[in-house]
Amino acid sequence: MANHTASPSISLYSFSLVITGLVLFSSFIDGNAAVNRNLMAPRTHNFHTIKVSSLLPDSVCDSSSQGYKLPSSSSLKVVHKHGPCNKQHRTNSPPSPSQILAHDEARVQSIKARIIALNSVGNTFTTSESVTLPAKSGLSLDTLNYVVTVGLGSPKKDLSLAFDTGSSLTWTQCQPCVESCYKQRDPIFDPSESSGYTNVSCNTPECNQLQIRGCNGTTCLYQVGYGDNSYTIGYLAKDTLTLSSAETITDFYFGCGQNNHLLGSDQVAGLLGLGREESSIISQTSTKYGKIFSYCLPSSSSGSGYLTFGNSGISNSVQYIPLGNSNKFYVIDITGIYLNDQKLAISPTVFSTKISIIDSGTVITRLPSEAYTTLRDAFRQQMSMYPMGRPESLFDTCYDLSKYTEVNTPKISIEFGGNQKIELAMTGVLYAVSSSQMCLAFAANSDTSFPTILGNVQQKTMQVVYDLAGGKLGFGPNGCA
Ligand SMILES: *[C@@H]1O[C@H](CO)[C@@H](O)[C@H](O)[C@H]1NC(C)=O
Ligand SMILES: *[C@@H]1O[C@H](CO)[C@@H](O)[C@H](O)[C@H]1NC(C)=O
Repeated sequence: MANHTASPSISLYSFSLVITGLVLFSSFIDGNAAVNRNLMAPRTHNFHTIKVSSLLPDSVCDSSSQGYKLPSSSSLKVVHKHGPCNKQHRTNSPPSPSQILAHDEARVQSIKARIIALNSVGNTFTTSESVTLPAKSGLSLDTLNYVVTVGLGSPKKDLSLAFDTGSSLTWTQCQPCVESCYKQRDPIFDPSESSGYTNVSCNTPECNQLQIRGCNGTTCLYQVGYGDNSYTIGYLAKDTLTLSSAETITDFYFGCGQNNHLLGSDQVAGLLGLGREESSIISQTSTKYGKIFSYCLPSSSSGSGYLTFGNSGISNSVQYIPLGNSNKFYVIDITGIYLNDQKLAISPTVFSTKISIIDSGTVITRLPSEAYTTLRDAFRQQMSMYPMGRPESLFDTCYDLSKYTEVNTPKISIEFGGNQKIELAMTGVLYAVSSSQMCLAFAANSDTSFPTILGNVQQKTMQVVYDLAGGKLGFGPNGCA
């Protein structure tokens, strides 16, 4: 099966199209523009006090993390891909902060491209087309820093998968790797060793729902190309997915990848798709788990968090905001930003004229540049007692904290829907490039066509609840450490 790649004539990226998803946002005009211009508030208990060392990466897995108790039997432990709690952790060096930030920018570019792309469900490719690069239907992958371990097949084989709210089809590399498999730590999944494995045939709804599909004989072929030129092509398959000894999902549809290219280091066995399309695990388990899931991303690469399917373990202190309609993205309605409880003077239209989404795979929150500049200027005023450090990549506001053991950072809250204010954990305020470059962990979008994205640094330690059935998204403090 050498040639089952896509035709470049499939027009996934039609920039001339009207952005259907954006129509929704024009309704998010906040009538209440009463902004507080007093940015020079006196220093108060509003400030977070953080140990500078706690912001730097750790080389040892926290002992508390090793004995970490998951909230429910439908929970998976979440660890950082490059951190010491990933049992696959390699000795080769993790990507540098500037590489991470460059990949992050590539992911944002691919989100933008997908937002303006044609809704391309149903594109087909045939095995006779001899084109080398698949069309890009997905996002950049190398920023997917959070990994879970699932069991696939019967008997189950453990696989470490990166999880992604920005894409839907779960896939793993599969024997016999007809074209190509990249190096991974887990043994590559072998369908011939699983009694439950079956290929899915072309004439099935599951095949027809794929964004890009093809057929070899009667076997349905899937293809996903990502924004960083990673891709996977293979058979659409089904088998049993095991979350824990008490929780299995029979007839779970996934991609059995026969031609796989993944950029980056510390290779995972594939991807767990938590997106909104039909192929996502969330849609597939809607009867069992009611289209609700939650996760907590650990504060440091040496900690552990969780990904829970269903409504168990959701804290009473979770605050909910409306989740916008979209068949691709988790759309949210950001309306303002607070610094130390002072609302910043940002016109609500700065946000309402653009799409805003939450994404588990974008590292740094992206703001419209007017919003970023206002936040940055106010932040600099509040941080004026600290020496500034060199700017780095996306970051223009960095501090040299190498001579400090503690730092007081102002608190940042995001306002949603015009009235819900959610305070970010202190880990969401400063991003450590090194102790001499601790940077305001936000970035400006380079042009106005980019979406506002709530990234994963700003989600850390919070319990983030995706209630698709209820049309809402929740944030609770102290979900994990
Ligand atoms: C199609 O399937 C046949 C039989 O399994 C196999 O020999 C061939 O390589 C496959 N071709 C493609 C393009 O998948
Ligand atoms: C799945 O389909 C491929 C291609 O048609 C074939 O080579 C392979 O043997 C099939 N696997 C099973 C278990 O039927």
